[in-house]
Amino acid sequence: MATRSTTTGILSEDKSAEREAIIELLKKAYWMEIETVMSYIANSINPDGVRAQEIIESLEADVQEELGHAQQFAARIKELYGVVPGSLDFTAEQSYLQPPDHQTDIVHVVKGVIEAETGAIEHYNHIIEVTDGVDFVTQDMVIAILRDEEGHRRLFEGYLREYEAEGLA
Ligand SMILES: [Fe+2]
Ligand SMILES: [Fe+2]
Repeated sequence: MATRSTTTGILSEDKSAEREAIIELLKKAYWMEIETVMSYIANSINPDGVRAQEIIESLEADVQEELGHAQQFAARIKELYGVVPGSLDFTAEQSYLQPPDHQTDIVHVVKGVIEAETGAIEHYNHIIEVTDGVDFVTQDMVIAILRDEEGHRRLFEGYLREYEAEGLA
């Protein structure tokens, strides 16, 4: 006996085109999170100096959060009948989060994190718009993740303000 396919929602048979489009957006989000994990690991270990400690602790915590985001995006790809891509499909894009010339250059790291978070915020707002009225579950998940990214960006904007106030950024 064939399983009955649902007739409502994003999992219904006539929604395959919408599902494909959403899966592509989720794959991009997944890679963004994976690259952020790599960048934040490096930038939570490389920085030197007294002022680096706050940044190090902050990014150490973010590594776990961004990893959790990657896992959520991967799970949603599967739920939409997609396949989580393999590592050979990965292309790096975060040129702005490469190690600075001097490991005491904390401003470079802070600005790089703000850039990464801003990119995530833009892409996730796009997913929220595309899924509106089409896939509320993905939309709900991405809204929650968006709040995390907005929090990350706000925290690092605060760090940048301190450096700007002292004429260091
Ligand atoms: Fe994230
Ligand atoms: Fe983030």
